Amino acid sequence: MEYLCTECGKTYPSSEVIWQCTCGGLLDIIHEFRFDPDMVKGREPSMWRYREALPVKKDTVVVSFHEGYTPLIPVDFGSRRVLIKQDHLFPTGSYKDRGASVLVSKAFERGIKHVVEDSSGNAGSAIAAYCAHASIQCDIYVPQATSPSKLKQIRSYGADLHTIKGDRAATARAVLSAAENTFYASHSYNPLFFHGTKTFAYEVCEQMGWNAPDTVILPIGNGTLFLGAFIGFKELKDQGIIPALPVMVGVQSASCAPVYRNYIASHMGKLLKTGVDYRIDDAESCLPTIAEGIAISNPVRKKQILNAVTVTGGSVITVDDSEIEHSLKKMYSSGYYIEPTAGAVTAGVEKYCMTAKENERIVSVFTGHGLKHG
Ligand SMILES: Cc1ncc(COP(=O)(O)O)c(C=O)c1O
Ligand SMILES: [Zn+2]
Repeated sequence: MEYLCTECGKTYPSSEVIWQCTCGGLLDIIHEFRFDPDMVKGREPSMWRYREALPVKKDTVVVSFHEGYTPLIPVDFGSRRVLIKQDHLFPTGSYKDRGASVLVSKAFERGIKHVVEDSSGNAGSAIAAYCAHASIQCDIYVPQATSPSKLKQIRSYGADLHTIKGDRAATARAVLSAAENTFYASHSYNPLFFHGTKTFAYEVCEQMGWNAPDTVILPIGNGTLFLGAFIGFKELKDQGIIPALPVMVGVQSASCAPVYRNYIASHMGKLLKTGVDYRIDDAESCLPTIAEGIAISNPVRKKQILNAVTVTGGSVITVDDSEIEHSLKKMYSSGYYIEPTAGAVTAGVEKYCMTAKENERIVSVFTGHGLKHG
């Protein structure tokens, strides 16, 4: 495995402890491997069953709670039946464990003793838990308004918690100065995180008998699950395991929808043949929303997210807080206990289903547990 800068093309060996290129560009990972569904037969039901696809060399450095392979269950949205990945059942209560397991394994392999990370709460909880498991010290930066139960969870794992005045963007600025001297275990910058979240795609395809769904509906905050799933589906297609990529539909909060706005601008540009493709806006401020996990005003990988939407023939939709609350109530009344950000996704699924094709095989996710809220 090596790191590749998406801006200048420079490569770095896997032994480097980096999260961005010296030119400031985002890093991706080049990882050559051979994967075959037969390889996983008889392996334990965890995300590490796709071992060959994960960019961590030795089993001895893997930091894991035997997580993943979450149930894919049918849930009815009106008259439509959608398959939902129960990723709220991860050890820390969200799918962020997928990324944390791979990223912290790499930190452990490199002998890192201390990391910093910023988060709206869930990525911070995941990094804190995996660091605790590997005896790595960590400092987690979160916005002051983060749900108290997430703050408690992060502190309980023994992390040093820094609550930052202002919005999520202010927290991201605060961690960057801390990252000058300490390894930045960033879920948005570090590409290893995305090579953990890609296991979502592997699990979905395996659970569907090594078939891809027609459509996948996922949240877009920093796009860690969205882009991870895209990487996973692409790898499975490149390995000849699935014939085509699923259509990828992203859900944003109407109060904070930078990717949606770019998607619409580029779509309109194409429709009007103005040649406008991606108009990447500067950071814009967000209004408050109950979907705290996806309130990201300027996702660093926005261009990659828009590319995944375009390449898969997908789209981006928005939901407002009243739609989220309505959807949450429906989920609760069926016995599913998910947090409000996860309710944004189910509200998006509900909206999408109104115009979905008959027999369309749709997959989505419960991203975070309801016990995290409050
Ligand atoms: C519960 C929950 N759902 C969804 C998201 C979306 O994040 P991302 O787009 O980075 O995958 C988050 C991020 O913190 C979250 O906590
Ligand atoms: Zn570079």
